[in-house]
Amino acid sequence: MCGIIGYVGLGKASQIITDGLKRLEYRGYDSVGIAVLKNKKFELRKDKGMVGEVSSQLEFTTMDGNIGIGHTRWATHGVVCTENAHPHFDCNKTVVLAHNGVIENFLQLKKGLNGHKFSSETDSEVVAHIFEENLKLLSPEEAFLTTISSLGGSYAIAALSTNDPEERLFIARRNSPLIIGVGKGEMFCASDIPAMLPYTRSFIHLEEGDRAILSKSGYTIYDPEGKKINREIITVDWNFDVAQKGGYSHFMLKEIHDQEHFIGQTLHSETDKAKVMIDKFEKIHILAAGTSYHSALLFSYLLSEKGKIAQAFVASDYQFIGKPDEKTLVIAISQSGETADVLQALRYASKSKKIAITNTIGSTITRISDETILLNAGPEVGVAATKTFTSQMAIIYKIIYGKVKLSALQKLIATMLECEESVRKIAPLLAKKSNVFFIARGKNVPIAYEASLKFKEITYISSEAYPGGELKHGTLSLITEGVPVIVLAPNDQTLSKLAGNIQEAKARGAMILSITDDPETAKISYQSIQIPKCDPLLYPFALIIPLQLLAYHVSIERGINPDRPRNLAKSVTVE
Ligand code: AGP
Repeated sequence: MCGIIGYVGLGKASQIITDGLKRLEYRGYDSVGIAVLKNKKFELRKDKGMVGEVSSQLEFTTMDGNIGIGHTRWATHGVVCTENAHPHFDCNKTVVLAHNGVIENFLQLKKGLNGHKFSSETDSEVVAHIFEENLKLLSPEEAFLTTISSLGGSYAIAALSTNDPEERLFIARRNSPLIIGVGKGEMFCASDIPAMLPYTRSFIHLEEGDRAILSKSGYTIYDPEGKKINREIITVDWNFDVAQKGGYSHFMLKEIHDQEHFIGQTLHSETDKAKVMIDKFEKIHILAAGTSYHSALLFSYLLSEKGKIAQAFVASDYQFIGKPDEKTLVIAISQSGETADVLQALRYASKSKKIAITNTIGSTITRISDETILLNAGPEVGVAATKTFTSQMAIIYKIIYGKVKLSALQKLIATMLECEESVRKIAPLLAKKSNVFFIARGKNVPIAYEASLKFKEITYISSEAYPGGELKHGTLSLITEGVPVIVLAPNDQTLSKLAGNIQEAKARGAMILSITDDPETAKISYQSIQIPKCDPLLYPFALIIPLQLLAYHVSIERGINPDRPRNLAKSVTVE
């Protein structure tokens, strides 16, 4: 959460930073700010609001200078207001700093800063004042390294100081992502790669506790003990276009449509080594959050079918209920590879062998796992996960059933995308409702959970998902005249039982919307989306596409920006 970007070089810092902030906005979008250093003086502009509006109102790109930092905020400490927006100054404007994370010992640190005047309620500002204090006695390098050593909690930090004659960028990370972009005669840092993609393809993922100093001619990295260290430079082959909307009105819609193309790439991902590990273990724990948890759940069902003792856990609760040991294989699924709850759960499983399934090369999850499977789905910018969910499913299916079984997948996705017009017609109907229910049975239940999450996340309509058999155990009391019940009804072994659940709901007046290839189910539904003839194994893929489109079009119908749902951020780097 929160996006940070820093630049030092010969280019116009304010332009590069403002562009980068637009590409980082999915990480937080309640306030935004930028600071540029020129002739030993800082210029800082910030306010609450989204990057586009604030940057044009405050004319960010008119600021001159070749070094600067920017920040887009997802509030943790302090309300959303101009003062709490980043970057933050120290008392004398000798330091400016942007932070992502939570400084857990900030109150204690603040007590030691007698006489300092604070302008915000944030935990982050304290770091600027400690840096200021240390600069009174130490060189800029030493002052920064000493400052970082005093911090508890999580941080990705980018700071500048007027005391530094060389005009360099001071950065550090622990439990919050921060990546160095290596350019020619210029250096970058950012919370995520897409922010830097127009300028470089060479990146360094800092390790936990690393600090670094960037200048236009290069960089120095220090390990947590303050020793100079080399870190690997990786090259990504992502095309800049994948981080653009490409003619679509929203990233989410583009990414839904991208699924047809990216699924082929995903199916080429290397899974053999992980499969050998999975085959060796009888007991498997799968950890994830949000959408990725729904993939984990599906994975656990399929592994159980193969005779494994497999269990999916919500990552944030794993420490309370999971009991991993050397005999347990732990698989973590995370699109970003930076979700704090998932990283924390993985670290808790210290005795176990670990596999990471992620879309982000070099992310923290890959560095604390023994084996990594990359989704190769290209960057996902929309806050609502779509293409990475289908990619996760494709990887899971490849591991369980082999690639050959998935040969018709790309075509199936393309056909399901053609139902967009029918979905668009249903959207106005649902946009007026206050409750929506999703039901499915068996292996299709994780898809119903995912459809419901997508729906509530971007439409703000209350939605719940159940195995159909559960309705009669409580939820039927909420089914009254006109309440929409969306039924995931492929013609598999779940259909006959689900048919009974449909009748129970219909008898109470429910408005049945179905996704089905069964003519009878379509006939008794108020509206229906048709699944084409396909291998029953692929039904989960056929079901999720129209449901992603449905959430998108209902969101649009309600005047919501699906790329920026309120209170949420793409990458959740706080526990
Ligand atoms: C889903 O649309 C959300 N963006 C969210 O639930 C997300 O899947 C979750 O935060 C986990 O993210 P990760 O896959 O990057 O770990």
